[in-house]
Amino acid sequence: MSFLQRTAGELWLDGVALEEIARRFGTPCYVYSRAAIEAAYREFDEGLAGVDHLVCYAVKANSNLAILDTLQQMGAGFDIVSGGELARVLAAGGRADRVIFSGVGKSEHEMRAALAAGIRCFNVESEPELERLDALAGAAGTRAPVSLRINPDVDARTHPYISTGMAGNKFGIPHTRALAAYRHAASLPHLRVIGVGCHIGSQILEAGPLDEALERVLELAEALAALGVKPAHLDLGGGFGIRYRDEVTLDIGRYCRALAAKLAGRGFQVMLEPGRAIAGPAGVLLTRVEYLKLDKAKRFAVVDASMSELIRPALYEAYHEIVAVKEPGPGAAQGFDVVGPVCESADVLGTDRSLAIEAGSLLAILSAGAYGMAMASNYNSRVRPAEVLVDRGRALEVRARETIESLFALEKRLADAAPR
Ligand code: LLP
Repeated sequence: MSFLQRTAGELWLDGVALEEIARRFGTPCYVYSRAAIEAAYREFDEGLAGVDHLVCYAVKANSNLAILDTLQQMGAGFDIVSGGELARVLAAGGRADRVIFSGVGKSEHEMRAALAAGIRCFNVESEPELERLDALAGAAGTRAPVSLRINPDVDARTHPYISTGMAGNKFGIPHTRALAAYRHAASLPHLRVIGVGCHIGSQILEAGPLDEALERVLELAEALAALGVKPAHLDLGGGFGIRYRDEVTLDIGRYCRALAAKLAGRGFQVMLEPGRAIAGPAGVLLTRVEYLKLDKAKRFAVVDASMSELIRPALYEAYHEIVAVKEPGPGAAQGFDVVGPVCESADVLGTDRSLAIEAGSLLAILSAGAYGMAMASNYNSRVRPAEVLVDRGRALEVRARETIESLFALEKRLADAAPR
């Protein structure tokens, strides 16, 4: 990763020593590289230059306002899945007319907020959702722009928890029913059909499934054109995998250039919804070793981060590389399971990692910029960590560490909760 450099044995992120960041902001702490986020976005944006396009960053991957701000300043659109994400995008200065709203369970309240904001498109996932949106748009005296999310029944060949495009899945409208659903949408007076979309899964490493999904979407778009409702845009979703360990990932620039070449001149705007590929490689989670526990059948490094801050290893058995910030460390490298303080056997951040460390050593957990802080919780009454963005050699605190008081600020003791 080019934004991480090792100089004189110390790990630096874009010109700032990670040890210094840990000293200033404490641990555990997420650290992001603004330059890495910008470079990843640019790969998509420049790759698609040959065709009218909008790259809609999937906010769920990392919704920190500073990251959204970074991207909106570059002209990005945003893929949101909740009213909370819409509010974040707007608070970060993002334009509503570059927001697309995905998700299977949009509430009335969320739809009203999105209609009032004037978002670019609702990615509708079911026929009852069409009905609800039509009614709310009518009541608001407007017509809602819609695209249907088609479930193309394609195997993304990724982890089953993050594969979304197959028939047995809750997402989207089966492609076999798509035309009927479009007819239905077109018949509703307060909807404006403007697109076709799909999203088949996450951490995808091969072009094959994406190409298959594109074929289905194109077939449908052409069938719609024949019916006189040619969609203005095709949204091919996100899901581009990143390297956590030794994965061979798609070359995003090349993939996007090929996509642009395939679609150039066909009169569609192309949209993509990458999340992980933009935020993931750009972030690390800094954590300090509390204890080395050597008296068991295994050797444990107990650190001050846990599944509360980074749940991916516990939830998906996901692999994140863990490196010592200072090298060489004390003594020879030995194998450790890197575990957190949380009371769950699954609270493991990495198994059998070769590290030369002692109590007090600082570790960096890599490729943690996406679905890290975004999935953090307060489990075990732990405060969520600080977030720092390194911006042109300056470390900026873009989210303060939560306070102990904030943990229960919304709660009441019985006497205070009881009706008076
Ligand atoms: N668009 C839609 C409709 C999505 O559901 C998702 C992710 C994305 C775009 C962005 O996908 P990406 O480019 O980031 O792969 N928590 C899991 C990942 C869940 C992804 C959910 N949907 C993880 O940590 O691996």
